[in-house]
Amino acid sequence: TYVVTDNCIACKYTDCVEVCPVDCFYEGENFLAIHPDECIDCGVCEPECPADAIRPDTEPGLESWVELNRKYAEIWPVITQRREPLPEAQDRDGEPDKLDKYFS
Ligand code: SF4
Ligand code: F3S
Repeated sequence: TYVVTDNCIACKYTDCVEVCPVDCFYEGENFLAIHPDECIDCGVCEPECPADAIRPDTEPGLESWVELNRKYAEIWPVITQRREPLPEAQDRDGEPDKLDKYFS
């Protein structure tokens, strides 16, 4: 599966959702989640993210992110159309530890 990681938080550019062939992105207030059981590993969303927040779970150390994506994908609504990024997106892009600081 591909997984949305820290740098999406407080940016939420949403370019990723338009290209997903199986519509497996789910939307929270300031983060999106990919449902790991629905993602078909096509990889087309990865280069679409301006914040470089989408990674393949073959990269080491992403287990907790897969579980976070799963947890919220199951309770948030699906998103299939791009929206405006969050107003603070440019300022927050690249900040460390956004999960602890901003996730809501
Ligand atoms: Fe959707 Fe493909 Fe990205 Fe998985 S890798 S979330 S199927 S676009
Ligand atoms: Fe987040 Fe990047 Fe999509 S910032 S909403 S994963 S385009």
